[in-house]
Amino acid sequence: MRSVLKILRRDRGDNRSHWQCFEYESQSESDTVAAALNSINSRNKLVDINGAPARAIEWEHSCLQKKCGACAMVINGKPCLACGTKLSELGSGCITIQPLKKFPVICDLVVDRSILFENLKRMRAWLENDPYLSEGFQDLAYESSECIQCGCCLEVCPNFYTGGSFFGMSVLPVTMRIISESAEYRELSKLYSKHIYNGCGKSLACKKICPKGIDTEKMLVNANILAVWKRKKR
Ligand code: FES
Repeated sequence: MRSVLKILRRDRGDNRSHWQCFEYESQSESDTVAAALNSINSRNKLVDINGAPARAIEWEHSCLQKKCGACAMVINGKPCLACGTKLSELGSGCITIQPLKKFPVICDLVVDRSILFENLKRMRAWLENDPYLSEGFQDLAYESSECIQCGCCLEVCPNFYTGGSFFGMSVLPVTMRIISESAEYRELSKLYSKHIYNGCGKSLACKKICPKGIDTEKMLVNANILAVWKRKKR
């Protein structure tokens, strides 16, 4: 299957972007956007669809197995993982690929997501004492550990912007887990109310977009029970 990848490009240190198209012929039904980007970059002399010389497309990746979150980008208008998105699912024709829009662009498809880690640090989301896990809570704790901090949930969130006081769902799974496992969770509960509970408009757009299928609504309800309403955990 022949595809055209229309990629939003930006040079390092520049604040202007431009579109550039590349042709790609799929090798198999399971070819992903990540495979296409790697294949295009491995060409001897990289030229765009018009035959003009082009520099290699910069994008982040590590595991190529939907485990690290590095390859998150906007494909055909939807935030997703390049290594988890098959070209065959996108159909033939033009596929648009852009960097995530909620973070500063460094170049091409590479964005600066350091705010995700900074917000986790601001939440003080770590255990200071021995953890305990209440009965019946294991499944939720396991699901929360699936979060790969890719940032796709923030891309579709109408309430999140970089530098705002609302930290978004990317800090929710780990925060919910730490609150549930720590005896000293009062300070974290206050931070939860300030940076998640108070700013969330409950659009739940994050629930539909999470590439790991994390039920953010369930996380939110349980974190609210624990941190805001101070009821029994489940
Ligand atoms: S490269 Fe790790 S999630 Fe895609």
